[in-house]
Amino acid sequence: MPEIGQSQTRQSHLPVAIEPGQPLTALAPMQDVTDQPFMAVISDCGAPDYFFTEYFRVHIQSRPEKHILHAISENHTGRPVFAQMIGEDVFHLARTARELLEHPVAGIDLNMGCPAPKVYKKQCGGGLLRDIGKVDEVLAALRETVPGLFTVKMRIGFEDTENFEPILGLIDKHKIDLLSLHGRTVKEMYRGDVHYDFIKRAVEVVQCPVLANGNITSACKALRVLEETGAAGVMIGRHAIRNPWIFKQIRQALAGQPVSKISLHEVNQYVKRLYASVSKPYAPEIAQVNKMKKYLNFVGQGVDRDGKFLHEMRRAKSKAELFAICNRHMPEGEQHLFADEPYEGVVARPNCE
Ligand SMILES: Cc1cc2nc3c(=O)[nH]c(=O)nc-3n(C[C@H](O)[C@H](O)[C@H](O)COP(=O)(O)O)c2cc1C
Repeated sequence: MPEIGQSQTRQSHLPVAIEPGQPLTALAPMQDVTDQPFMAVISDCGAPDYFFTEYFRVHIQSRPEKHILHAISENHTGRPVFAQMIGEDVFHLARTARELLEHPVAGIDLNMGCPAPKVYKKQCGGGLLRDIGKVDEVLAALRETVPGLFTVKMRIGFEDTENFEPILGLIDKHKIDLLSLHGRTVKEMYRGDVHYDFIKRAVEVVQCPVLANGNITSACKALRVLEETGAAGVMIGRHAIRNPWIFKQIRQALAGQPVSKISLHEVNQYVKRLYASVSKPYAPEIAQVNKMKKYLNFVGQGVDRDGKFLHEMRRAKSKAELFAICNRHMPEGEQHLFADEPYEGVVARPNCE
């Protein structure tokens, strides 16, 4: 059982964890991934404590996107969902926050980390981290607008970490309720090691609970990161697509119980369930197959060490072909186990936020 940071004691007004007293777990927001069907599938494997929607884009003409609202209104997982926004216009951010608060959200989350150039070229997402004055203004306006939980998800800086401590000061000044911190700069995108030392620093400095985010690949790694950073919890993105049982496994590990082994057959069933859940009734089959490849890019990191499954599935042209490849690489039998950690050198295609 790791030493849990002091911030854990300050989470009383946040929704309670599935196992009260344990560090928190959250599914990271992921555009075009963390929609309502995906959240439902994840939840059946062992829900995280918190969900976050992909970001609602905010600008002068924006209205909250219907398909993202669906993840809130049709959330039957029993776990709270925070609505994330991205934008630079203070007036419209506040307006959108008010609109989102009419829905059953656990709170409003602000994206200050997106590294997509088309986003950060404006003063949005990770671009905000370059301008302390603007962060101050946006946080002040949203804090005033949101009577309940107002949370922030950010990176440790834009190009360097010069603004890190001043922005942590603003997190405190505006009484942010929860900080999710991806331990990389915007310019680092997803490359290289995660700077867990910066997450540790944030835990020491800010009043609110901190969720450590970035490369948390397994229950074992989650416990190591909790211990190293003292964070109040972990937020997991890509590795929950690969292994949707990760949240349940973390709870088991934290309770000192044996961590469930996952068979390749269970993974095969997960893939089929995901296919059925995320299928759009009138979408062409090939569009559905291609959509599945996005998830399977991650799943494949735990299927075989030579990356043969990934190689074959990327060439599938029909549902029957895709399922045949899954059946071949993920046969029945308890002896065929899914890897706990991604196989080294088996990489998912680079992606962007
Ligand atoms: C496909 C994809 C889409 C993402 N979309 C968002 C998003 O909408 N909002 C956000 O704050 N972060 C987004 N992220 C970043 C993740 O929330 C997370 O910070 C990042 O993937 C690092 O965590 P991980 O190593 O556990 O994946 C996205 C990441 C991926 C891979």
